[in-house]
Amino acid sequence: MSKTIFVLNGPNLNLLGKRQPEIYGHETMDDVKAMCVAEAHKHGFDIRYHQSNREYELIDWIHEAREKGAGIVINPGAFTHTSVAIFDALNTFDGPVIEVHISNVHKREAFRHHSYVSLRADGVIAGCGTQGYVFGVARIAALVA
Ligand code: DQA
Repeated sequence: MSKTIFVLNGPNLNLLGKRQPEIYGHETMDDVKAMCVAEAHKHGFDIRYHQSNREYELIDWIHEAREKGAGIVINPGAFTHTSVAIFDALNTFDGPVIEVHISNVHKREAFRHHSYVSLRADGVIAGCGTQGYVFGVARIAALVA
């Protein structure tokens, strides 16, 4: 059984820490990666951590997870609300999927209330800041243990 959890991040999340810190906080993508690695190691897992502004790259990593991933933690950014292609890709993956949003999308604009990814996700974490990623990794570890 694979011991690798894929943590995938969508568009604009490369600017985490600089972009609207009042909404997304001050931690950077590197900080979040370190938090995910630390949590994964506690449970005996490794992390593959990626961010891209390109939809196809996220889809390619989901396909890679089909072969190599125990589970996927994904913050698709704005693709959450638009991407049937990411939804379709996640449906090709058999393991658990946890959707993470740093902000509470339900407290924000109406267009953020709909998620294609939630139609596939086994769990959704929103509004817990970057700690949501840690919860997501812990949840995958619990589901595949
Ligand atoms: C986000 C919420 C999305 O609506 C937004 O487009 C993002 C980040 C979040 O983590 O809160 O880019 O996924």
